[in-house]
Amino acid sequence: MQRFRRPARMLEWSRQQRCAGDVIAFVPTMGALHQGHLSLVDLAAERADRVVVSIFVNPAQFGPSEDFDLYPRDLEGDLKLLSEREVDAVLIPDTGDLYPAGFTTWVVEEELSDKLEGAARPGHFRGVTTVVTKLLLVVEPDIMILGQKDAQQVAVLKRIIHDLMFPVDVIVGPIIREPDSIALSSRNAYLSGEERKQAVCLHDSLRLARKLLLEGEVDSGVVMDAMRERIESEPSTRVDYIAAVHPDTFETLDTLSDTTLFCLAVFVGDTRLIDNELVELGN
Ligand code: PAJ
Repeated sequence: MQRFRRPARMLEWSRQQRCAGDVIAFVPTMGALHQGHLSLVDLAAERADRVVVSIFVNPAQFGPSEDFDLYPRDLEGDLKLLSEREVDAVLIPDTGDLYPAGFTTWVVEEELSDKLEGAARPGHFRGVTTVVTKLLLVVEPDIMILGQKDAQQVAVLKRIIHDLMFPVDVIVGPIIREPDSIALSSRNAYLSGEERKQAVCLHDSLRLARKLLLEGEVDSGVVMDAMRERIESEPSTRVDYIAAVHPDTFETLDTLSDTTLFCLAVFVGDTRLIDNELVELGN
C-alpha cells in the first residue's frame, strides 16, 4: 500500500495506473475509520482494479462552533485497517497543500446545499464540494464511492459531478449499522453509555416512518409527528430536523411518494447525529 502526502505524487501514480489500463475507485474519508468506511473500501475493490482512499479532516466543512479540533484522529490505526484490505494507495494531504495560502476559490452548489444539513450547518457543503473537487483533480478516479449515511452529501456531490462534467461514476454503499441499529459514525464516540442507549430512537423513528408509509399513510405531517414523538420519548434528545424529501432534489414532500427519503438530525446530549431511510415502494 502506497502512501502519498503530496498531491502531485498522487496524481503521477494515478496517471500511471490509468495508462496501464487500470480502473481506479476512490473512497474519500476524514479518517477515524470504522466498518462503514471499510464497507466502501470493499465495494471499491469489487468494482475497480485499483483502490485509493483519502484521509483528510477537512477544516473547510466544519463551522466555527463545530468539532473540528475534537474530531477523532487515529492515523496509525486507520493505516493498519486499510493495509488489511485491498487498498493500493492512501492519500494523506497536508492542509496547506489542498488550501494554498491566500486561496479565495470555492466550489459552490447553489440549490441542494441550502436545505436541511446545509441550513443547519451554513458553509458545510461549500467545504465538502470544494475539497471533493480538489481530491477528484488529484486522484482522477473512474469511480467514487460514497455512503448513503450522508444522503444529502451524495445528492450534492452527484450534482457537482454532473454540473462540472467530471468523468466519474458515483457508487453509493448502504448504511452500515451496529447490531442495535445505530448507524456507525465517528461521532458515536462522543456519546455517554446512557446517550448511546437513547440513540436507537433515530432508527426506530425511521423504521416507524417506513411502516406508516407501507401501510398507506401519505400525509407527511402525520408521519413526521409520529417520528418526533418516538424521538422525544427519550429524555436527552433534541430534534434538529425531521424531513421527508425526494432523494435527488431534496424537495420537501407534503404528500409522501413512491420514492421518499426520510432524514433526520437529532442531538443526543451534545452530540448531533444524522440518519436516513430511503423507501422505494414497489421495490
Ligand atoms: P466521513 O464522514 O469520514 O465519511 C466518509 C464516507 O463514509 C462518506 O461517504 C460517508 O457517507 C461514509 N460513511 C460514514 N458512515 C457510514 C456508515 N455507517 N455506513 C456507510 N457509509 C458510511 O463524508 C465525509 O467523511 C466527508 O464529508 C468527505 C466526503 C470525506 C469530504 O471531506
